[in-house]
Amino acid sequence: MNDKYLEEYKNQMYEYKKQLYKDHHLNSLFIEMTLRCNARCEHCGSSCGDVIQKDEITKEEIYKVLEDICNSGIYDPRKIMLNITGGEPLVRKDMFEILAYADRLGFPWGITTNGMLIDEEVVKNMVKTHMYSVSVSIDGLKETHENFRKVPGSYEKILKGIELMMKEPSIKVVQVTTCVNKKNINELEELYQLLLSKKVPYWRIVTVDPIGRAKDNDDILLNGEEIKRMVRFIREKQIENKMVVSYGCGHYFGFNMDYDIRNHPFICYTGVNVASILSNGDIFVCPDVKRLPELIQGNIRKDNFVEVWEKKFKIFRTMNRTCNKKCKACSEWKLCGGDALHTWDFEENKPLMCSKEYFKEDYRIQKELQNRKKRQEARKKKKAK
Ligand SMILES: C[S@@+](CC[C@H](N)C(=O)[O-])C[C@H]1O[C@@H](n2cnc3c(N)ncnc32)[C@H](O)[C@@H]1O
Repeated sequence: MNDKYLEEYKNQMYEYKKQLYKDHHLNSLFIEMTLRCNARCEHCGSSCGDVIQKDEITKEEIYKVLEDICNSGIYDPRKIMLNITGGEPLVRKDMFEILAYADRLGFPWGITTNGMLIDEEVVKNMVKTHMYSVSVSIDGLKETHENFRKVPGSYEKILKGIELMMKEPSIKVVQVTTCVNKKNINELEELYQLLLSKKVPYWRIVTVDPIGRAKDNDDILLNGEEIKRMVRFIREKQIENKMVVSYGCGHYFGFNMDYDIRNHPFICYTGVNVASILSNGDIFVCPDVKRLPELIQGNIRKDNFVEVWEKKFKIFRTMNRTCNKKCKACSEWKLCGGDALHTWDFEENKPLMCSKEYFKEDYRIQKELQNRKKRQEARKKKKAK
């Protein structure tokens, strides 16, 4: 793309985002069912585990939120996807009761799970409550996964659960999510072959971010060279085209890497089209964002969710929500906007990482080649005259 078109593209994207922020139409609601979890992942962004959570939201409190949305006169429940997460959502005994109610009200829903509790009975309940999509976390080959998540002997059960769900035509998306880190980066090809042999249709790859427990286990984070290897891997697999392999929603890798690894441009929609109800009832943006008291927008125990969504959330709906002098001066600011909200360091007012920086040298060479081509063409034209 030449410079003129690139500038036009940046301006169009910027205007598009501005409009999204203005409209702030809710289309995705995370419900963090619990912080309890049957795994002890080294990277857990929410530091979940064996907690006894006294303030966990009750099913009646969740019903109230869903009813508020239906009665708002603004939102059609059929157009709001409920993303069920945790902790491990399947440890909650009343989960399917809650989702049966959500289903009756018309909400589509999907779940992110570690897959350890999926069996025939659970799949039956998923089908009964019309689950649309499921994302199962697999963080490497058997040994790596089980060590990383501290759950010996769980791997086969998880794979069996995936097979069971794939047999159900009413479950439209069965996806595996892998959090790439130092311990599994060398296993990506073998894991790909394994998922391919199981006919898994979607593989979502993300990187471990320095949040929650991963902040203390920072030796598992990828360095720049490893991130580049992962990106190259995703691109190769997209060319092979045997499975839908894509990078998750976080992080801007520079123009036009986003198209190559996720088939759409980078936009962090949280607080704009995406909200969450945390397991203590707090009304928030993505559950991965640091839960600073000043960022919490309300609590379902005392507030009407829709009113909070419509009237508050202002700090997340300005174009400068994640911004500092350095970012603003960057030539790709209009496309990146400070990167993902969950990796913005609000205390230091800077991004925890700038993923575009890893590709700086590649982009410099690309630019140099473009300039050389331009000079050659100009010389040719001059000669022809
Ligand atoms: C918080 S878990 C909750 C659902 C479920 N227990 C599971 O393991 O999938 C949701 C997703 O977040 C990912 N995750 C957790 N910590 C992360 C981190 N530090 N960086 C990036 N992703 C992370 C998990 O691997 C998982 O795919």
